[in-house]
Amino acid sequence: MSGNSVIPPQELRLHAPLLDAYLRYFEDGITSFSTPGHKQQAALLDLGLGKVVDADIPLYGGLDEMKLTNGTLAAAEKLAAECWNADWARFSTGGSTHGNQALILAIATPGAKIAITRTAHRSLISALVLGGVEPIWLTPEIDEATGIPLGISTAELSRALEHSPTAVFLTEPGYLGTLSPLRELIDLTHERNIPIIIDQAWGAHFGFHPGIPPHAMELGADAMVTSIHKNLPGYCAASLVVANTTRISAARLEQSFEATHTTSPAGAPLASIDGVRALMQLRGHELIQNLLQNIAHFKNDLKEHFGFDLFIDPDRFAPGSFDATKLVIQTHHFGGDGVAIERALTSHGVRVEMADRDTIIPIVTVADDERSFTILANALKASIIAQAPRAVATALSWRISPTFGVSIREAFFSSSEMVSAVEAAGRISADLIAPYPPGVPVVTPGEVLTQEILSGLAEVAAEGVRIAYSTDPTLATYRVLEK
Ligand SMILES: Cc1ncc(COP(=O)(O)O)c(C=O)c1O
Repeated sequence: MSGNSVIPPQELRLHAPLLDAYLRYFEDGITSFSTPGHKQQAALLDLGLGKVVDADIPLYGGLDEMKLTNGTLAAAEKLAAECWNADWARFSTGGSTHGNQALILAIATPGAKIAITRTAHRSLISALVLGGVEPIWLTPEIDEATGIPLGISTAELSRALEHSPTAVFLTEPGYLGTLSPLRELIDLTHERNIPIIIDQAWGAHFGFHPGIPPHAMELGADAMVTSIHKNLPGYCAASLVVANTTRISAARLEQSFEATHTTSPAGAPLASIDGVRALMQLRGHELIQNLLQNIAHFKNDLKEHFGFDLFIDPDRFAPGSFDATKLVIQTHHFGGDGVAIERALTSHGVRVEMADRDTIIPIVTVADDERSFTILANALKASIIAQAPRAVATALSWRISPTFGVSIREAFFSSSEMVSAVEAAGRISADLIAPYPPGVPVVTPGEVLTQEILSGLAEVAAEGVRIAYSTDPTLATYRVLEK
């Protein structure tokens, strides 16, 4: 196993203006007479509360002066733009959810059509409601051997381009680590002189090592959103939006970003984006090299133990089409129930990102070390009991083909009523409903609740998966549009 060397505490801040400003705030011992109301001394009121809030400083009057006279945020964002081959960058404390909203608003005109990956995250669907945009769905191909979505083919995008979308918005990588042939899709889109935007929430580490895919901007995308807290060691909900402003207006980007962002951004998430950017620029190659080595060692150890490969093999995909740091366990190989295994893992003190009957995903990042890999390996050995293999299955989120009823926006603002699950068949959904994770909608507002969807949701819920965003989480009733 490989370990990461630790950078001395003073070093990274030399390359990261916001991180430096964050640390300096505490060193300077400022006495605050502005928000936040905890004044970094809530511990005087309650030790537990102090632990939660006393490391919190704001952007305004924290990372920078109240009137932003130091230009610290702008300096850090410029460094990020340079790092991700862009000419515009903003840091968000609202997650890639906010990034998706800002990007859709930046390219939307009400009623416009945008070609969108059907397996997009629910945040993109909400963005469509805000922007009044209609999707032209792009359906990913399914890999027969693994049952997982492979990405969007050039043929599928060409079909959608025939319907004259004003932009293309892809989700890359998908939740299970696969990527479309992005360079070709970007070229195809640009032949029409329209922008292509990538939700790369799960690819913030891309581009820092040849063993993992290049990031979307490197491949020529017009804009990209990525979560710094998913695959890199950033603060929760810390997200980065970058763009090249030849096909997208910088003024519209700015307006759209601000329209949907808080006016009180917390300093720690912003400083973490800056610190992570600097860390990856200085040491990204070395850290990902170590991560890849640890993954190889970990997988070999488990293969020796079980006598078969637990994980989807990255080598079965074309170069650049799979994130080699993604660990996807497919339980059909050994006949196990992913939800039961997740429970067993929890009893061993291990929490994974996602589990349904057929899939378990533990997230590993550059912050994992030999110790954490060993804990995960031991917990998997103790939790998985091989039984008879079963046929590969494709999860509900990947196999649904939607039936259009009315536009997403029309449905969102329409009058609705609750009906029983039986009565819901054939009615138009007022809710977005998604197993979570991955948060990929099985039905969006405006789509028809088919029998396949209703039975599929009931089945997944019975397996112990959380069904998110339905008004009635028990699924006994559904919120549908009034007739
Ligand atoms: C593809 C994708 N985009 C966007 C998001 C939203 O990201 P965040 O949770 O940072 O708001 C997610 C969250 O899981 C996601 O999977």
